[in-house]
Amino acid sequence: MRFRSFFRASQIKASSLLFRRLYSHSRPQGRRPSFGIAFDIDGVIIRGGDPIGGSPQALSRLYAEDGSLKIPYIFLTNGGGVPESKRACELSGLLGVQISPLQVVLGHSPFRNLLSRFENDLIVAVGKGEPAKVMLEYGFKKVLSIDDYASFLKDIDPLSQYKSWRINQIYEITKNVDELHSSLNVDSDAVKATFIVSDPVDWGRDIQVLCDILSCGGLPGKAKGHQPALYFASDDLQYQAAFPSERLGMGAFRIALESIFNRVNNRPLHYTSFGKPNPFVFKNAESVLMRVASTICGELDIVDDTKENQFRSIYMIGDNPIVDIDGAAEAGRPWFSILTRTGVFKGRDNHQDYPADLVVENVQEAVEFILKKEAL
Ligand code: G3P
Ligand code: MG
Repeated sequence: MRFRSFFRASQIKASSLLFRRLYSHSRPQGRRPSFGIAFDIDGVIIRGGDPIGGSPQALSRLYAEDGSLKIPYIFLTNGGGVPESKRACELSGLLGVQISPLQVVLGHSPFRNLLSRFENDLIVAVGKGEPAKVMLEYGFKKVLSIDDYASFLKDIDPLSQYKSWRINQIYEITKNVDELHSSLNVDSDAVKATFIVSDPVDWGRDIQVLCDILSCGGLPGKAKGHQPALYFASDDLQYQAAFPSERLGMGAFRIALESIFNRVNNRPLHYTSFGKPNPFVFKNAESVLMRVASTICGELDIVDDTKENQFRSIYMIGDNPIVDIDGAAEAGRPWFSILTRTGVFKGRDNHQDYPADLVVENVQEAVEFILKKEAL
């Protein structure tokens, strides 16, 4: 099931103001650029933590000599696990350019739209990195990472003693956990929703604990009951990391959890998946790009999405035909898809089922093509 919703302008406004402060030396009020670029991260910009395909050089072409941004661009990734502000810092350090949190749209970014529904409910956040911190930053008040939640339930993982790699592991400790620790009673405080924020680390333990929560009305070990809500930040079956062949992603974890839950319960698992290729992700990317554009050209107010403010072209540069290219194709005009050979796609010609508007070797070639086409 795909969730269709749009970011609220007010939520983006805060990052937009921060962005304006960061770029206060940007060029004076001028013509709004007629195009924007959305970069996929894994398999296009980075692979296993290292820049690839000439990405630092490609991005530097989008800045003026004084370091101010001249071409509106964003990162549009299904990955995540840390707050947008932290990812922006990490990417700035890695790629050698100044990147604002406004320019970072992660798989889990749309979770903030569920705040009004679960703000004061107990929720569990799953995945690598700092999943609970991500949700706390979005405003959720009672958040536990699955590591912390499992630690409250003695013997929930019968294999924990064999996981030597878990011994001495530093769990995600937040002020929130300390506060919750004293007030939480796992026997009576039901989990109302579970969020798969980023790729799960311990699939066996996570599937076990999630099955417990989702089968028993949010109270593991108790009688079967109504299924709490379940959200996935994306549904990528595979993605490109450092290893030569693709790695199993969040979509693979979803399939594993779903098939086990359905067998154990004899009823279907209900869930919602976000991320590319959902059309709402591309619609949201358009308005974020619009805000980046209005900020860098010195407009004081956030512009609305009226026709004269729309982009003539938006380029999606991705490595995954099923996710990035199909998403851009479904979104339609003004999206133009560019497929690189640095990640999931390794073919010689275009992809058969999800052909891109253009296939290139890497992101540097993609950016050169765009700048030439736009006569810059
Ligand atoms: O876990 C990350 C992966 O599923 C996809 O990342 O940047 O290729 O959308 P990206
Ligand atoms: Mg990718």
